[in-house]
Amino acid sequence: MRVAYFDYARRFGADAALVKQLVAEVGTSGAFILKHRVSELEEAIKGQTGAAHAVAVSNGTDALLIALASLGVGPGVDVLTPAFSFISTASAPALLRARPVFVDVNPDTGTIAADELARRRTPESKVVIAAHLFSSLAAMAEIQAAARALGLRVLEDSAVALGARTAGVPAGLAGDVGVYSFFPAKPLGGIGDAGMIVSNDAAIGDMCRRLRNHGQDGVTRFLHHHLGWNHRMDEIVAAYLTAKLARLPALHARRRAIGERYDAELGKLGAAIRPLASAPGERVFYTYVIRSERRDALRAHLFERGVETQLYYTVPLHLQPCFAHLGHVAGDFPGAETLAREALALPLYAEMTDAEVDYVVSAVRSFHA
Ligand SMILES: Cc1ncc(COP(=O)(O)O)c(C=O)c1O
Repeated sequence: MRVAYFDYARRFGADAALVKQLVAEVGTSGAFILKHRVSELEEAIKGQTGAAHAVAVSNGTDALLIALASLGVGPGVDVLTPAFSFISTASAPALLRARPVFVDVNPDTGTIAADELARRRTPESKVVIAAHLFSSLAAMAEIQAAARALGLRVLEDSAVALGARTAGVPAGLAGDVGVYSFFPAKPLGGIGDAGMIVSNDAAIGDMCRRLRNHGQDGVTRFLHHHLGWNHRMDEIVAAYLTAKLARLPALHARRRAIGERYDAELGKLGAAIRPLASAPGERVFYTYVIRSERRDALRAHLFERGVETQLYYTVPLHLQPCFAHLGHVAGDFPGAETLAREALALPLYAEMTDAEVDYVVSAVRSFHA
């Protein structure tokens, strides 16, 4: 058997009729960008999360940029951010000419270590980015408590966690502002790039709305209150996402069933294979990541048996060439470096069959036989 790490054809092929209809309808309508279909998606996200404000944007990275800018991040400001994450959580503050200040992650969960925040905080620190990663929730209650004590605003990067909850609060709404990504591989994956910013703070919502469209207020065209960007969402992607959002709970349920089966079966293999844990809450399963000291040998073993896997973030952020000027060296963030060395992602997507899931489990098990 061959199990692909991800199967776009299976995922989007199932929606062929919907996509054809949207191309015919939206593609000839003349209403292509930031029109009523984008508003409908914003309303649907508000309805599903309870957010007071939802601002649709071009992708999750732009959502981070705009959200940070709305919190006043710019030159002279420091942003506390995890040393192990997708590049955007560090590049977004850097692109705003702020300084990313790395904080180690908990190697058991992959998310920012709340108890490190006080030690890493600088006098210029204004914001902390808490990112949910893979299928692990960041410890939002602890992060919020630390942020309050340190006078920091919280940006909750929920790019991979729409539909999750921490302490009963929907992911994205535990901090001052949150973001989602609708990159095609995400649980709510679009037919193209897209993202969303959510907040219960009207000032943040208004500012994000302006910044995504050249600093205009949505009333007077060509009057620019702020320097903004063209980070708008396309109508065709929005319409697809609104249709798919209704199916998100069912997609999450299938992902959870697979994730929990992996947890149960791989948990039996002892310390050699450690599925990443999560802070408490209702997690959603995005990618399924395990830790193994023999990661590369395990990966080769699985590949020989037809199971594709993925390596996420083999170079932690503090050691990336683009951040060399920050002067970090190996050993600075042991949690991040452990994950860069040991993390391995197994296939997990709603379209997988039970037979494929069983095959992945048996292939992993055979490595340890
Ligand atoms: C944690 C995290 N933040 C932000 C992003 C950026 O989202 P996008 O790819 O839509 O720009 C991603 C994408 O993978 C992510 O995993």
